[in-house]
Amino acid sequence: MATLQSSPRTARSSTVALKYSMAVSGLIMLGYLLVHMYGNLKFFQGQEKFDSYLDGTLREMFTPYLPEEGALWILRVVLLVALVVHVYAAITLWRRNKVASGAVGMTRYHTKQNPRGNQRSYASFTMRWGGIILLLFIIGHLAQMLPNWLAPGGGSDSKYERVVNGFELWWVVLLYTIGLLAVGFHLWHGFWSALTTLGQNRSATRQQSSLTLIAAGLAVLITAGFLTVPFAVLFFGAGS
Ligand code: HEM
Repeated sequence: MATLQSSPRTARSSTVALKYSMAVSGLIMLGYLLVHMYGNLKFFQGQEKFDSYLDGTLREMFTPYLPEEGALWILRVVLLVALVVHVYAAITLWRRNKVASGAVGMTRYHTKQNPRGNQRSYASFTMRWGGIILLLFIIGHLAQMLPNWLAPGGGSDSKYERVVNGFELWWVVLLYTIGLLAVGFHLWHGFWSALTTLGQNRSATRQQSSLTLIAAGLAVLITAGFLTVPFAVLFFGAGS
């Protein structure tokens, strides 16, 4: 009976498919992050504009062609599918890589850089641990922003007030800063890697690649853009 992984060719091509899925799902989430970061800047227009953007504009997108919140729910489903595909592909590729490098059932090979036999690069470390921090951050963030479940500093029907109440606390800002740095490092390597997978990197070395600069710029832009709101509240008393 034929099995799915009966030939090395099938195994190889499905690894390519996984890398493509990771790249495309990552780029979809990146697109959302850019829009979300831009939307957050409405905070600086004051409570009324911020809340009416979140409770009105965002929920009424494409009405009457779609019901209220229809577009938002489509976006949520797309994001959730992208996240599941991304995490599934990451774990599967990581496990294959471990088997291939002899980490399962054998001694891993040694190099001068890694005498303990662990093939650990900056990127693999950041992506794995950064990815886990990011997942925890997203779960905490959704519980705080969507249903008022987690309400550090005090809950409110106004999301503007919820944001201000939370960011007046130094430890909330610290947790967000850690989460946002994880976003930045993840994007820095992830964006480069995604475009390389999609054939957009034609340089001989990583250093020569203009993608390296673009990826770093994008990571800094998104991290700094998101940090403006918590820092403005904690350090400059915005919103109070
Ligand atoms: C300081 C940074 C951030 C602030 C102030 C912020 C603020 C908010 C607010 C107010 C909402 C509620 C939106 C709504 O009413 O629908 C929200 C939702 C959300 N945020 Fe953030 N956010 C930040 C960073 C992030 C980051 C870095 C991510 C992802 C890594 C993220 C992912 C999400 C997601 C997935 C939703 C749910 C969207 C929805 O279903 O409506 N946010 N955020």
